[in-house]
Amino acid sequence: MCGIVGYIGTREAFPVLLNGLKKLEYRGYDSAGVALLNGSLEVFKKAGKVSDLERFAGTQNISGDTGIGHTRWATHGEPSDKNAHPHLSANRIFSVVHNGIIENYARLKTDLEKHKFSFRSETDTEVLANLMEYFYMQSDEVTAEMAVQLALSKVVGAYGIAVLCSREKDKLIVARKGSPLVVGLGKNEYFVASDASPIAEFTSHVVYLNDYDMAVLQKNNFTLKNIENKPVSVTISNLDMQIGELDKNGFEHFMLKEIFEQPQTIEDTFKGRLKPEYSDIVLGGLHHVFPRIAKAGRIVIIGCGTSWHAALIAEYLLEDFAQIPVEVEYASEFRYRKPLLNKNDVVILISQSGETADTLAALRLAREKGALVLGICNVVGSTLSRETEAGVYTHAGVEIGVASTKAFTAQVTVLTLFTLKLAKTRGTISDEEYSLLVKELAEIPKKGRAILENNEKIRQVAEKYKDAVNALYLGRGTLFPVAMEGALKLKEISYIHAEGYAAGEMKHGPIALVDDNLPVVVVAPQDAWYEKIISNIQEVKARKGNVIAIVTEGDTGLKELTDDVIEIPRSHPALAPLLAVIPLQLLAYHIAVLRGCNVDQPRNLAKSVTVE
Ligand code: G6P
Repeated sequence: MCGIVGYIGTREAFPVLLNGLKKLEYRGYDSAGVALLNGSLEVFKKAGKVSDLERFAGTQNISGDTGIGHTRWATHGEPSDKNAHPHLSANRIFSVVHNGIIENYARLKTDLEKHKFSFRSETDTEVLANLMEYFYMQSDEVTAEMAVQLALSKVVGAYGIAVLCSREKDKLIVARKGSPLVVGLGKNEYFVASDASPIAEFTSHVVYLNDYDMAVLQKNNFTLKNIENKPVSVTISNLDMQIGELDKNGFEHFMLKEIFEQPQTIEDTFKGRLKPEYSDIVLGGLHHVFPRIAKAGRIVIIGCGTSWHAALIAEYLLEDFAQIPVEVEYASEFRYRKPLLNKNDVVILISQSGETADTLAALRLAREKGALVLGICNVVGSTLSRETEAGVYTHAGVEIGVASTKAFTAQVTVLTLFTLKLAKTRGTISDEEYSLLVKELAEIPKKGRAILENNEKIRQVAEKYKDAVNALYLGRGTLFPVAMEGALKLKEISYIHAEGYAAGEMKHGPIALVDDNLPVVVVAPQDAWYEKIISNIQEVKARKGNVIAIVTEGDTGLKELTDDVIEIPRSHPALAPLLAVIPLQLLAYHIAVLRGCNVDQPRNLAKSVTVE
């Protein structure tokens, strides 16, 4: 949520900042701007996309070897030129880009107004810039660094910031609490960004900032301390990111590319973890805590959005195969209730980004309560991966499309591996079923590829329903969360109101919506609930609803009963979510494209939600 970049070195800063902002645009895209030091401190900013900034800045003098940039997802103040970052302090001494929320900004603003500060924007960030200036002006002894520290000491809330000072032009100051920041270490140059994607092409040596860290970057010097001015030891990490991951590779959109990558990313996620002959499942990151997991009294799984849907699938799998009680919670709810947790509980946090504010708050609460805290995360080096006691990475690669696709199937793959390993360790699964499931898991990539071959057919189905106003998605068992995920995809990117429901619950409300305008997507493979879901389809048809059914290959019965069918290969029911979600992703994608929506950057959303 909001992307930050910064550069200090020997190159022209603007192209580095602009390319960085393009890579971070998934974090917010309602306005963008840069500040450059070139004799004076100049700010260029515009409402709209990074491309609007590029057009605007093209007509200006944009030279300078030090700069900061920002792409915004509005919190305080509507998207506009004046609310865009960077923000300048009253006398143009400080310029700040900020990701996060300063919760006490109103009180700070009133105090500053009493000291004759005036404001050009409605943002909390401008308050921070002016607070720095206020402290800086108190005495000649106060350096830019000290002013930043003093300002941050007054702040309640979350921030990742990059700061330039027009009176100390040789430095770029960055700090974090709650919002991620990475510093890339080059030769006589440093890069800063909210995630490593803008840095990867320049250096593979990075330092991930921890909460309360502050770094002062000069062309030839890097100092890490905390905001109380105490030294902090530096850990240099190696970046393992393929530049190609950041391209569309010939696909029209990142989302489509990522949907098509799934057979590979699912395989990447289990490959190397299945021992030869499937004799064992190796989850190296959990090795040292596995005996404790196996003895746990309960597992609580927490996430937001799509990650929460993956958690719901795991609830079915874990209770069924590992016979352990599971609860699933929205992070935003968990963090504010008074959850009963103890040392026998295992808490699993699921997050693609590893930076979702609510999920991180839930993590810290669970840790405080003494539970064993595990992470399932896609982004290596993210806050979640660093703060959990142990965990498993999904190997989905960089996911750029704001609507999550390949990260979801990678999460479900990890959760399936975890379930099988736990069930085996606890002796709650027979050897036959274990072997069958592991073998079938290895078949999923091939089956996924077969579904992708139906892409054109799914596009034709999308043509029929692209003008819908509402849509209902139904499923049972593990396919109920898949129905919710399908509905979420549709509403996120096409702005059609969609709800995912347990098929059996339809008659308790949603059935009132059914008429000849309502598309009802029913996930109906031939599994234990098949007969029951056919009854639900009959109920929809009796009220003239349009049924699009996701069916097992060769199911001719449902072809006759429904308006459209999309086939998926037969699989073990426990693995069906990995297949059934693919046509739902494609359906949402094509409907959104046909409606002229920006699928990679849907309105009002951001990929990484670092504010609560
Ligand atoms: C945002 C994204 C979703 C994502 C959710 C949780 O809402 O748009 O795609 O599922 O955040 O993100 P996380 O990174 O924690 O999985």
